[in-house]
Amino acid sequence: MIIRGKVDRLIGEIIVPGDKSISHRSIMIGSIAEGDTLISGILMSEDVKRTVEAFKKMGVNIKEEGDKVYIEGVGIKGLKRPNSIIDCGNSGTTMRLLSGILVGQEFSAILIGDESLTYRPMDRIIIPLREMGAFIQGKEDRYPPLVTKSVDKLKGINYKLPVASAQVKSAILLATLYAEGQTRIIERRVTRDHTERMLNYLGYPVVNKKGQIYVNPKGTLTGKNVYIPGDISSAAYFIVAAILIKGSNIVIKNVGINPTRTGIIKVLKKMGANIRVCNRKYINNEPVADVQVKYSKLKGTLIDGDIVGTLIDEIPIIAVAASLAEGTTIIEGAEELKYKESNRIVAISKELKKMGANVREQLDGMIIEGKSYLEPANLNSYNDHRIAMALSIAALRAEGESKIKGHECVNISYPNFYDTLFKLLS
Ligand code: S3P
Repeated sequence: MIIRGKVDRLIGEIIVPGDKSISHRSIMIGSIAEGDTLISGILMSEDVKRTVEAFKKMGVNIKEEGDKVYIEGVGIKGLKRPNSIIDCGNSGTTMRLLSGILVGQEFSAILIGDESLTYRPMDRIIIPLREMGAFIQGKEDRYPPLVTKSVDKLKGINYKLPVASAQVKSAILLATLYAEGQTRIIERRVTRDHTERMLNYLGYPVVNKKGQIYVNPKGTLTGKNVYIPGDISSAAYFIVAAILIKGSNIVIKNVGINPTRTGIIKVLKKMGANIRVCNRKYINNEPVADVQVKYSKLKGTLIDGDIVGTLIDEIPIIAVAASLAEGTTIIEGAEELKYKESNRIVAISKELKKMGANVREQLDGMIIEGKSYLEPANLNSYNDHRIAMALSIAALRAEGESKIKGHECVNISYPNFYDTLFKLLS
């Protein structure tokens, strides 16, 4: 993909595709609920398709029509043994959350992934699921492929999450559907709570008391209509683009503004961004709003502590904004970035440096001295969708043509990313 820099401005109203995390959860939880679930606004990206395929393989009737999906829920005991290996592709969410469901089944399953997923840590789910009594094994007890087998019973656990990970939390929460006794999960740092919200919405009570999450396996999941709001992680690229390009003024309609995801808005506002969140509403337990963004001058800031978990996927695009802000931005406590679809600390630092940005890689983040321009360059996406999109936005501020290698990986979370970008620029 070639991106020409020094663009005019971004003007217009857009919608971004449905939230990826909520899309995965609606397929998984809708499949094991009693009765039908109609999902509107779903994201049909490569990652979500993996989750859909997995449940189809386990006998669930799932029909797709545009951005709507109909699921005939089979109940928590109704999944069937898949007749082949389940391929999770690039999707950590599919592999980790699905494992939580599979350990409660009366059949065995094998989960594999692509090259990138094969190197992502799975001990973080293997350890707590085994503590619940599950049979789950991985390569070297750490990596995919994963194998799950039927066990007599699972039991609730008391578990302090050693890593701030919504995927680990969710794998445990989904396994509690098949367990006896109470489970308490202690989160040291806030992570996205879409699983808790969707379980509650469909009738399975999960309570969060100041970071301690309690579940008693008592409720019944009942299928309902689910509307998926726009993904704030996808909106983030256009939010930063509008801030960075003079004269821009855009509105992004119906974006999910769950407080466990809006760290990007808080940080950009603190940096001086002109962002207005309006038309707030609540749809199936998730807050939604329109977000208006205008060109703004940014100042450097410190990003650390609890906010990090609420903007973890946005750090590559925040690094782009910081590279063009006045002053220094320090990002700390983000070591989790090393375990994403690529090592995102290395990937974004290296590529932004090619554009002349002043970025210093740290073990748990980055130190970025902002400057007023970037240079065009030959850039590598590392086949990581979030790196490809962040670099595409950076390239808009470079005078000349930048090339993004492997830009097709945007299909993982945002198949129409470039169409929307070029529409806003025309
Ligand atoms: C996700 C949680 C986050 C995030 C990922 C999606 C989810 O990962 O980075 O893109 O849907 O639960 P971790 O929970 O592993 O940090």
